[in-house]
This record gives sequence, structure tokens and C-alpha cells, in this order.
Amino acid sequence: MGRSTRLLLLLRPYTPLFVANLVTTVVASVLDGVTFVLLIPFLRTLFGQEALPASGGSAVERLLAAVVGPVLGAGAPHAALRNVVLVLLGTLVLKNVLAYVAALTSVAIQENVVRDLRVRLFEHLQALSLGFFQRTRGGQLLARVINDTDQVKTAITAALASLLQNVSLIVVYVGILVGLSWRLTLVALVCAPLLVLIVRPMVGKVRRRSREQADQRGELTSLVSELVASIKLVRAYVAERFEADRFRTLADRYRKGVLRAQRYALLTSPVSEVFAGGVIVLIFAVGTRLALGQTAVLRPEVLIAFIAVALRLMSPVKSVANYPTAMAGALAAADRVFEVLDLTPEEGDRPGEVPARFERCIEYRGVTFSYNGQAPVLHGVDLEVRRGQVAAVVGPSGAGKTTLVDLLPRFYEPTGGTILVDGVPITRFTRSSLRSLMGIVSQETILLNDTVFANIAYGRSDFTLDQVQAAARAANADAFVSQLPEGYHTLLGERGTRLSGGERQRIAIARALLRDPPILILDEATSALDMESERLVQEAIDRLMAHRTTFVIAHRLATVQHADLIVVLADGRIVEHGTHAALYAASGLYRRLHDLQFRP
Ligand SMILES: Nc1ncnc2c1ncn2[C@@H]1O[C@H](COP(=O)(O)OP(=O)(O)OP(=O)(O)O)[C@@H](O)[C@H]1O
Ligand SMILES: [Mg+2]
Repeated sequence: MGRSTRLLLLLRPYTPLFVANLVTTVVASVLDGVTFVLLIPFLRTLFGQEALPASGGSAVERLLAAVVGPVLGAGAPHAALRNVVLVLLGTLVLKNVLAYVAALTSVAIQENVVRDLRVRLFEHLQALSLGFFQRTRGGQLLARVINDTDQVKTAITAALASLLQNVSLIVVYVGILVGLSWRLTLVALVCAPLLVLIVRPMVGKVRRRSREQADQRGELTSLVSELVASIKLVRAYVAERFEADRFRTLADRYRKGVLRAQRYALLTSPVSEVFAGGVIVLIFAVGTRLALGQTAVLRPEVLIAFIAVALRLMSPVKSVANYPTAMAGALAAADRVFEVLDLTPEEGDRPGEVPARFERCIEYRGVTFSYNGQAPVLHGVDLEVRRGQVAAVVGPSGAGKTTLVDLLPRFYEPTGGTILVDGVPITRFTRSSLRSLMGIVSQETILLNDTVFANIAYGRSDFTLDQVQAAARAANADAFVSQLPEGYHTLLGERGTRLSGGERQRIAIARALLRDPPILILDEATSALDMESERLVQEAIDRLMAHRTTFVIAHRLATVQHADLIVVLADGRIVEHGTHAALYAASGLYRRLHDLQFRP
């Protein structure tokens, strides 16, 4: 499906608005033409003639006589003149009311379409794989959802307000011109194809540059959003100059690109105006000949009206000539939007998937995994954890611990092997039901710009303050939350109170506990806590782990000594597994890591 077709399809829900826009635009254009035609009776009355010729005259004059003839033809010249003026004013007011309604409807359509597009894009983003987000710069996505959709709006406005309106104006004006003098009109129309030929190469140049510019705009957005996120790093490494230079280079490259493209884009308007001026001169030349010759076929007032309408025709012709260059940027933006919409969504529940159930055990069978086709980070992992057990995953940094547990909620799909819950491959389950079984405290704590309450109750609106408080108490967070200025209603995050690393972790633990999930995944969940807090949180977790199945990742081996099963991961392979006592006795990697921590 072509890009333009897709853009048009976006308009479909707004067909009634679109029709209203079309009708008001066309009627307003006709009325606009009429105000110019009224010049004829005005001039005739002024020159002491009847407002309209009694017989004969151009087609336009005959039509005018049929519609407003009786009003204009009445009585004395000054009465007729007054009537002409009144009709003129009435037409002008009506035309402008309609033009206003047309503009309003076109804005309404445009904003509706952009809203729809933004929401669709946002929803689609949520359905894309985690890999996509790791490959794509956040700022580029921001630019696509905010800037590019806004540019698409230009395409729609240009198509509606501008193209539609101007084309209908041109049709009405040309109709009037033909009605006034078909000979002169022919002279003007013969030149029209020439304009298309002149403008075309400029359009091509602008089109080629537009996509580049949209991408560069995205890069600029990225740089700003990355600066905001890493401002502390910039300060710490005194990198302000460095960042500013990087930004200036990008901003400058963008400036150059825009200038280069605008050199051609801005040319279409003057070129088409000079061209139209040439045509007017031609009309003058031919027109006066027709009006002055011995066999005068054109009366002066008709020639004046003709030239007035022809001059008026200039501006819509100019706009239409500009249309392709104005559209180039919008179409490049539309491409960027559609590119994201065309990515296959990997998330979301599929037909045929069933709700997950967990009664007995979780099994990894020969699980292999690699990120985006890079070297594997997990090799043939076999693991069985029964319901109610605590499984600890330990091992050196980069061994694949986080990756291992990320596969369980299907954040990524294994490249080989299977993960089973109660003997059923987890790919048979809907992602939503599978994830509802789990409370996950990830290695980096993510808090939202929202209240403590909303952060703990995240994503659901049916939790009461009592429930949230109970979860916070279990996570050893209640004490410090109560100390905050507005307790559970204190705003956290960028525009709110900042919490310490340990406090953040406890909020995250409370969040996981609140859902009371049968499976808990704790990835370094207590790493930012001091000994005392860790002990308190550990107690709470121990209490809660009693009837839960838990995966714990911890560098501090003291916290995993009581686990039912300890898995030692190194370079993506399970090198040892067993209880603390058994592993300690085996004197392998676990023992080495353990001794490093406990022997001074
Ligand atoms: N999104 C990713 N894309 C590509 N490679 C990744 C990605 N995440 C992790 N890796 C790589 O996979 C390997 C395992 O990473 P993982 O995060 O699972 O280690 P870990 O055992 O949790 O380490 P740590 O104890 O430091 O948290 C590392 O070599 C890492 O560089
Ligand atoms: Mg990790």
C-alpha cells in the first residue's frame, strides 16, 4: 500500500467532517469568485450603463443576471450602485463565514488524525520486542511519536486546507474566466504545463533531502534526552564543552541540510509568481487586442474583471506549485512513522495461547540464548526448581545470571531449548498471564514520576492504601516512607523527591510483594542496602518466600546460604549446582567465590 493511500486511510473515520470541509471550501471558493464578477455590474453602473447588459454579454454576465439581476437592475444608478455594493458585502461576509468553518473543520480533522496516529504509534511501541528498544535511540522514538506525527499533520493540512481549497479556487476561477472569455482563458491555460516542467526538478531535490533532515532532527532530540538523563555524568567528568560541541556539530549539520533544501524549496514560489506574471502580461497583450480591434470581441469591463480574476488566480496557483515541496518533509516524516508501525509486534497475547498455571515445577531444558544473533551468552542450561523452593543463581559478573532469569517472563525467547512450567513450554502461555505469576525486582530499579503509592501499586488501580502499606512494611520501606513530607502521596522521581539507592530498592521490593505472586525473581534486590537493612529486608523476604518459588541473584553469598538450590553460572554455563554445604565441600568455583568474601 502506498504512503499516500495510507495517509488517506487515516482520514476515513472523519468522513463527515471531511465532506463538510469539502462543501464549505467549494462554496466559499464560488462566492469568492462571485465577489470579483460583481465588478462588472459595478463598473457598468459607474460608467452610466445598465448594471447588466439586457441581452448578449458573456456567460458569466447572463448567469449573474439570472441570479441577482432583479436586485441590481432596480431604478436609479445610485440605487443600483448601492445594491451592487450590498450584494458584494453580503457575498463577502458569507464567503468568510464559510472559509472560517472550512478552516475549523480542517484543523479538527488534522488534530484527530494526529491523535490517532500518535496513540497507534505508542501502542505499537509497547508491543515491540525489548531488542528493538536496545537497538533504537530513545530520542529517535521520541521524535517519531512527537515531531514526525506533527509533520504528518502538515501533510494533511496541506492536502485539505491548501490543496483542496486551492484546487477548487482554481477550478472556480478558471470556470469564471472561461465564462468571461474563452479565448483569453485558452491563452493562459496553454502555458500551464510549462510551470509543472519548471518546478519539477526543484521538488526532486527537496524530496531527497527531507528524509535525511527528519533523521537528523531525531538525532538532535536523542542528544538532548540523553544529556538530561546523564547530566550527573557530564558534570562529574566536566564534559559540558564536549557535549556542547557534539550538539553544535549536529545542529549545524542540520542547519546546512535545511538551508540546502530550502534553497530549492523557496524557489518554487517566486518562480511560479514570475511565471504567472508573464502569463498576465500575455493576457494583457492579447486582451487589449481583442478589446480594441475593429471587431472588438471583448468589452473593457469584462477585460478588467478578467484580469482581476486572473490576478487573483495567482495565489492558489502558487500554493499548488509549492505543494509538492511543502509535502516533501511531511512525507518523509510519514515514512518514519510508518516504518515503526510496520515492525512486527512480538509482544501481546496470541490466539491459541492459554492462561499460565503453576503448581509443581519450573524447568530449563538445554536452554541456549544469544542477543540479536551475537555470540551465545547461555549454553545448554538445565535447571529444575520445584514449587516452594528458593533457587540462588551466583557467579561472576557477565556470566549470564540476569539473562537466565529474563527468559522466564519471556522478555526474550531462548534461541535453543525450552523452558517449561509444570511440563508445559512457556511459549504456550499468554505473556500477560505468565508475567502475572511473577514478582520481579530487577537489577536496576525503575521508579516513575508519581506518588509512592502509585509506584508500589503500579499498573493497577484496585489496591487500597492498607494493602500498599502492608507490602511496604514487609519490604522494610514503611518507616522511611512515613517520614516523607506527604507520606505515601509524596511525588517521586524527576520532579519529586529523590530516594537513595537502598530506598528505591525497597520500593521495588514492595511493588513485587504487593501482587503476592507465586514466583519471585530478585536480581540483586538487596545489593544497595546496608547490612542492617539487608538483614531486615532479607527477613521479610524469607518470611514471604515460605510459600513461594524464588529465584535470587546475589553477589553477596551470605544472602543465599539458605537457598534450597544454588546454581553457579560461569560464561553462560552451569558449572556447579547443589546446596551450600555440598558446594562448599566440593571446593569448586563456589567455594572460591565464598572464601574471597569471607576470608579477610
Ligand atoms: N541487551 C543485551 N544485548 C547484548 N548483549 C547483552 C545484553 N545484555 C547482556 N548482554 C551480554 O550478555 C552477557 C551476560 O549478561 P548478564 O546481564 O546476563 O550478566 P550477569 O551475570 O547478570 O552479570 P552481572 O552480575 O554483572 O549483573 C554479558 O556478556 C553481556 O555483555
Ligand atoms: Mg545481572
